[in-house]
Amino acid sequence: MNDTLEKPRALVLVPCRKMDDDDDDVPQLSPHTLAALQEFYLEQQQREGMKTSQGFNQYSVGSIEEDWQLSQFWYSDETASCLANEAVAAAGKDGKIACISAPSVYQKLKEQDGKDFSVCILEYDRRFSVYGEEFVFYDYNNPLNLPENLLPHSFDIVVADPPYLSEECLQKTAETIKYLTKGKILLCTGAIMEEQAAKHLGVKICKFVPRHSRNLANEFRCYVNYASGLD
Ligand SMILES: C[S@@+](CC[C@H](N)C(=O)[O-])C[C@H]1O[C@@H](n2cnc3c(N)ncnc32)[C@H](O)[C@@H]1O
Repeated sequence: MNDTLEKPRALVLVPCRKMDDDDDDVPQLSPHTLAALQEFYLEQQQREGMKTSQGFNQYSVGSIEEDWQLSQFWYSDETASCLANEAVAAAGKDGKIACISAPSVYQKLKEQDGKDFSVCILEYDRRFSVYGEEFVFYDYNNPLNLPENLLPHSFDIVVADPPYLSEECLQKTAETIKYLTKGKILLCTGAIMEEQAAKHLGVKICKFVPRHSRNLANEFRCYVNYASGLD
């Protein structure tokens, strides 16, 4: 366990003044608000406690919390591992892997600390810039607006999970994927995108079914254009 990790802080409550106190401009919390606040801090403490006891590190899946405004739904730990292992196997020795809008796969690859592959993360959410030079800001609306050091057809495999289940989003992300990959593609998206995925990327649905850390209303699937271990 890492001793330098900050211990959860205790909840400090400011005593409520009675209504008949002289100084009645001191803000007061209603019992209901106070209870909600206590519950919030308790949950926070539990989350922090869990992170510490589970040997949390900066690459743990979920270390950066989901922001639903950005359509962020993280994979379960098993799914992230499975996709990371598949990417390593497909990339081969000293292979180069690009993760587009799929930060959990990047994190899982880094957690493995593998020496015989390199990886970069293309993401819209700048919180992932904590990962330094391997982070590349990416907005699917400008699919080819990429730094010069990302050369065309320079990645052995591109793993992508576009943020929206729309043809426009898939088509634009597909432009980036096709620009970066030497050939191999591993796409994760909704089951309803099967036809469009085949049309824009020539990928076929796999037997493996990805899972998320929360239950999602939409069924998700993986798609590849090579003989993968996901069937
Ligand atoms: C459906 S999630 C896929 C995450 C994946 N399940 C994982 O666990 O790594 C979509 C991803 O797209 C990213 N995203 C949101 N807006 C984007 C944009 N305009 N361009 C590119 N990516 C975007 C989100 O930050 C999120 O990581």
